[in-house]
Amino acid sequence: MIDLRSDTCSRPTPAMRTAMAHADVGDDVYGDDPTARALEHATAALLGKEAAVYMPTGTMTNQVAIRAHTEPGDAVLFDQSAHVYLLKGGALAAYAGVLPRLLPGVRGIFQPHDLDHAIGRAHRFFPATIQAPARLLCVENTHNLGGGAVWPLDTLLAVAARGREHALALHLDGARLWHASAATGISEARYAAPFDTVSVCFSKALGAPVGSCLAGTAAFIARARRFKQQIGGGFRQAGIIAAGALHALEHHRPRLLKTHQLAARFAAGIARIDGIALDLATVETNIVRFSLARHDAAAFVEAAHARGLYLLPSGAGAVRAVFYLDIGEDEVDAALRIIGATLAQLPAAGAAPPAAAGAGY
Ligand SMILES: Cc1ncc(COP(=O)(O)O)c(C=O)c1O
Repeated sequence: MIDLRSDTCSRPTPAMRTAMAHADVGDDVYGDDPTARALEHATAALLGKEAAVYMPTGTMTNQVAIRAHTEPGDAVLFDQSAHVYLLKGGALAAYAGVLPRLLPGVRGIFQPHDLDHAIGRAHRFFPATIQAPARLLCVENTHNLGGGAVWPLDTLLAVAARGREHALALHLDGARLWHASAATGISEARYAAPFDTVSVCFSKALGAPVGSCLAGTAAFIARARRFKQQIGGGFRQAGIIAAGALHALEHHRPRLLKTHQLAARFAAGIARIDGIALDLATVETNIVRFSLARHDAAAFVEAAHARGLYLLPSGAGAVRAVFYLDIGEDEVDAALRIIGATLAQLPAAGAAPPAAAGAGY
């Protein structure tokens, strides 16, 4: 199978496994794991923040950040297609208990005036207590459901400045921040600078098996450690997995541009296939989201799977392919052949037998 569902499908390399096998470890709940500490220091330094805390997942770093920035009942501003709002099994409501206020971004990127509209203006006839207070703004860079879109730095800075004018705390979901930096040459620290907290993932873009870090001020990270423990994130010998993340940071981060080139090669190939709708300008990093002009996306994904290619249906009528370090040009070319053959054989939507329509998704 060629697996293009997600960059989380990457596997640890032999060198990474060796680093993990030889990691120095201790009980991380007692603060004794030297490798987890080294990862936290390296990540904080890279992001230009005082401190960082290692956790099992990006879901946890984001939820802990939101919990630590807010009180239950507060409002948090997100783009309407933010990963942390749409795809985490309702964690926002179940854990932090906050109220999402959605911003009308395009491919995940919104404008300063969108904050003004979402927050509104106070008026003396309108009791301040009547609305959930807006406390936090979350930004995602690169934007997953936006097809790996990179925030233009000037828009990012303007949005952050407007957020400050509204007295919001600022959190960056940088699960794939490394990809934004690889694409633009703008450092992770520069992107992170306007934000109070930043979450980054080692398990997807960078190809480590486990883990994410949340970075911010030392005081905020001390508070976040309490919520990490509360939510069951207290590791014991974390060093074994932290060593994989450190290895990824050092050895895989410099290679990410390769995954953008593979995505561009794939995108150029499918754009030539009759029945695919794709604006090549939307392919900025390692994610390609495309639509099908005449076919049902779920049926197409099933048919491609039967031919040896794993893709993911991604929103109404769209399909996503994600590129990572285990994929090479041969797999890209084979994937293009499978997509061409699949579309040539698949009945157009409407002509499909009823049982196949929307099957399984
Ligand atoms: C933008 C974004 N944020 C957060 C997450 C959550 O990360 P994890 O799968 O490690 O919980 C993901 C996962 O794909 C993601 O794409």
